[in-house]
Amino acid sequence: MSSEDVRPKVDCTVPHPARRYDYWLGGKDNFQVDRDAADAIEKQFPTVRLLAQENRWFLHRSVRYAARELGIRQFLDIGTGIPTSPNTHQVAQEIDPAARIVYVDNDPLVLAHARALMTGTPQGRTAYLDADLRDPGGILHHADTAATLDLTRPVALMMLAVLHFIRDEENPRAIVDTLIDALPHGSLVVISHGTPEHVTAEQAARIGRADPSGARVRSGTELAALFARPDLHLVAPVASISEWWPEAAPQPRPSVADVAMNGLVARVVRD
Ligand SMILES: C[S@@+](CC[C@H](N)C(=O)[O-])C[C@H]1O[C@@H](n2cnc3c(N)ncnc32)[C@H](O)[C@@H]1O
Repeated sequence: MSSEDVRPKVDCTVPHPARRYDYWLGGKDNFQVDRDAADAIEKQFPTVRLLAQENRWFLHRSVRYAARELGIRQFLDIGTGIPTSPNTHQVAQEIDPAARIVYVDNDPLVLAHARALMTGTPQGRTAYLDADLRDPGGILHHADTAATLDLTRPVALMMLAVLHFIRDEENPRAIVDTLIDALPHGSLVVISHGTPEHVTAEQAARIGRADPSGARVRSGTELAALFARPDLHLVAPVASISEWWPEAAPQPRPSVADVAMNGLVARVVRD
């Protein structure tokens, strides 16, 4: 394969969710087309930057919960995003330098940055896959997944702010089931997902028109239904990401309407 073949193909004429999110977080890895798309959404949903920041803090708290409270040392983080320190591996390896992380994203710009930045500790292992959530088998059976994670031991499956990019016709339930079927007893599932619950139907429609990604936000009830399985026990009912482990979160806490993102945290329990 020539070097031309492996170079990530970054299209700077079409807005990408990863680069738009990077812009809301104050990052520099975005193009004018992403900033314009991000600004159009912010006009309709003025607290979207707070939402993005809160989502990062939810990620940090959930990784600490998995590592400190449950002793989990393996993480499968799908829909990684452009590196924004600290990332999953930094939070986990601060607790145990031997923690192992597989990152997955389908955006070529994320790939380029992740390979350069997500090196991790010498004791642990950090892998990055250029793969698509819509092909969960490809993620699970990838050689780098097998080389990094031991799927007979508990894993924290993290899918933060990514499942709403899977449309209903792409069968998110089957994707979720394939991934969870591969997790052993004691694993953890951590999800954040955009919700329309706190905006009016008219505002939701305006946000939808401003968002070319066609994200499919889902209510807390719809999110819980996607993960309703006998071997998956919710740690607590689905709640706004701003309400998870609030004592460990920056104060003051924002309103759930300002954040408009739900969190689901569940344990895999098998005989
Ligand atoms: C809003 S960012 C979230 C980043 C990070 N998970 C977080 O919560 O801070 C969504 C990420 O999901 C990625 N993504 C969207 N659809 C995807 C898919 N089908 N497969 C893999 N990654 C996807 C995007 O490229 C982007 O990096």
